[in-house]
Amino acid sequence: MTSILENRPAFAAEVDKVAEVAGYLWQKGWAERNGGNITVNITEHVDDAMKALPAISEPVAIGLTLPNLNGCWFYCKGTNKRMRDLARRPMENGSIIRITDDCAHYEIVADDPVKPTSELPSHLAVHNYLIGKGSPYKASLHTHPIELVAMSHNPEFLKKDVLTNLLWSMIPETKAFCPRGLGIVPYMLPSSNELAEATIRAIDDDYDVVMWEKHGVFAVGDDIIEAFDMVDTLTKSAIIYMYARAMGFIPDGMSQAQMQEISKVFNLPK
Ligand code: 13P
Ligand code: ZN
Repeated sequence: MTSILENRPAFAAEVDKVAEVAGYLWQKGWAERNGGNITVNITEHVDDAMKALPAISEPVAIGLTLPNLNGCWFYCKGTNKRMRDLARRPMENGSIIRITDDCAHYEIVADDPVKPTSELPSHLAVHNYLIGKGSPYKASLHTHPIELVAMSHNPEFLKKDVLTNLLWSMIPETKAFCPRGLGIVPYMLPSSNELAEATIRAIDDDYDVVMWEKHGVFAVGDDIIEAFDMVDTLTKSAIIYMYARAMGFIPDGMSQAQMQEISKVFNLPK
């Protein structure tokens, strides 16, 4: 069977990155069963031949109207599909969708009619927000990192920027490479429009990664590798914190002055 990726190397390279990250998510234990999802805005790779392709599904309501997504195309992980399968066969475990002219529906275009992730409202609402802001970010990732989710069960860590500062203070790289920290979204029903709206509010509060309390994280980046790297970096800090606690002491953490020094040297926003 031919794939829409054939003879489109730049587009295929983006899907290769998705497959690479899906493998990491499984290896890290963050992707039990079908856990987690990925979408990538691939509109820049759409050519005239792609535009002429017929839809292979009926239009499906997104549940939200997202005006900035007019003419946009996305790669989406399929709902109920496993990251460990997606790592080997991204086009069998995900599909390419385009947004219809009313900006309230999508239709599947290729390769197979794989129904997109149940978290599509959050992913598309965030892409709509990013385009509105003129952001260059193209990728969004939702995953279930064990240590960060464990920390979200402590109400103290859910207060604004408590976790941000704690994680930043564990190792200098965390502030340098996740410079906006970790926003917090209170527990909400998975795949709900309320969760989508709360996620945008948190990202708008100037975060690239937000915690979905007792569920997982949602991250945005230039590409899916960038989004993954930020979650990986934050998780590394969480693990260092937990190792210290497991050894029976509360880690000192870097001082505020040491973290300010990092901000200055790396020219960071916070
Ligand atoms: P999907 O299989 O629909 O992508 O759902 C996985 C998930 O993590 C829901 O929050
Ligand atoms: Zn989830």
